Amino acid sequence: MTIEIHEDATALARALAARVCEAVDDRPNLVLGLPTGRTPLAFYEQMRRRSQERPSDWSAVRTFNLDEFVGVAPGAPGSYRSYMQRELFAHVNVRPDHIGFLNGAASDLDAECERYERAIADAGGMDLILLGIGGNGHIGFNEPGRTLAARTHRARLEPSTRASNRALFGDSLDRVPVDGLSMGMATILQARRVVLIATGATKAAAVRRMLGGSITTEFPASFLLVHPDVTVMLDPAASPR
Ligand code: PGA
Repeated sequence: MTIEIHEDATALARALAARVCEAVDDRPNLVLGLPTGRTPLAFYEQMRRRSQERPSDWSAVRTFNLDEFVGVAPGAPGSYRSYMQRELFAHVNVRPDHIGFLNGAASDLDAECERYERAIADAGGMDLILLGIGGNGHIGFNEPGRTLAARTHRARLEPSTRASNRALFGDSLDRVPVDGLSMGMATILQARRVVLIATGATKAAAVRRMLGGSITTEFPASFLLVHPDVTVMLDPAASPR
């Protein structure tokens, strides 16, 4: 695991955007796993900036997002699909049929999860996946528990996860869905390269525990310790002291 401490959250976002654009330039048919949440917003802002100044060609890139809310249609304002459209997809020339996304409003959610696993496999697996970390150690919607699901699955969201997503639902906790669909830990760990980003003092304890050396389902991010190519990008506030 490589740990990088950047000067601040903006410098981190800029460095990550440069790295992702370089990966796209080096491999035009890159298969990229993407996160949502508050942490990656600065990164997506830097991506938009770069795409105005010196655009990378995304016409052959494929993307797969980590997770989505159950019961929320892709076009609904609170969906992660809408978040990604606003933050990134509308600003690069990615083909709509190259955007992989879980549909939380699918009529058969088990079939939807199987479809997603197949789509990732058919794309040849993910070359690079970007991740955030929950304060409770979750990755995607893989929440702490006695067991973790290996593959894409329906997940019950922790209260803290629902609270941190309030802004997408008019700041009303009651409107945040109780379930999500998420790539499983094995799906994530099969990406060839992983970059995890964490910024702000509220993430310092989670980062410290992730790096602590014990692997446990009670702290899903600890499973990243078994992956051979993980870079952890931090700002000073999120760095373990
Ligand atoms: P946050 O979420 O960026 O909104 O803190 C990160 C995560 O829960 O993965």
